[in-house]
Amino acid sequence: METYKRLLLNNKAWVEDKLNLRPDFFTKSSGVQKPEFLWIGCSDSRVPAEEVTGVEPGELFVHRNIANVVVHTDFNMLSVVQYAVEVLKVRHIIVCGHYGCGGIKAAMGRQHLGLINKWLRHIKDVYRFHKTELEAIPDEAKRYERLIELNVDEQVHHLAELSFVQRAWKNEQRPMLHGWIYDIHTGHLKQMTKIDPGQLPNEIYAYEFPD
Ligand code: CO
Repeated sequence: METYKRLLLNNKAWVEDKLNLRPDFFTKSSGVQKPEFLWIGCSDSRVPAEEVTGVEPGELFVHRNIANVVVHTDFNMLSVVQYAVEVLKVRHIIVCGHYGCGGIKAAMGRQHLGLINKWLRHIKDVYRFHKTELEAIPDEAKRYERLIELNVDEQVHHLAELSFVQRAWKNEQRPMLHGWIYDIHTGHLKQMTKIDPGQLPNEIYAYEFPD
């Protein structure tokens, strides 16, 4: 059997399972979506957002890219965040990194990888901002873990720097911003960073809005 056919067969079994549990499963979830959370995670196949958080379809709005980066010129990510904040009115945005992230590993190295260098360059910037702290860690594995953590923290700060996040803070006191790490060795999620609505970490990035 071609490997891809397993996915289609799995889908049939999944539909049956869901309907056995709740006959209205699809009719109920096919209405308007009202997720409370936006998840920005890594594309890594070992970090399935809905599965590790135990949520049902309809609960999580999801954006994933290599190394869960929030890049200010990325219209894809910006569109997702703006829609989540202004239309879906999510209450929480979670940036989730993970130990063992290949994107972070590659950004720590010097191998030329073509186009992806341009993407990973944003992580090299995070390294540069925290070079003193990182290079004081003698153990390479520990330094790698720390950069994974610092990257999540940096990306959460980038969310706080977005004008439409700040406007929602001012007008509706949401969303709360979170930085989490998923440990692929244990399956556990760990909270790293939390920014309450209105708590902009650096005023350089503050915008003013007319009342
Ligand atoms: Co990754």
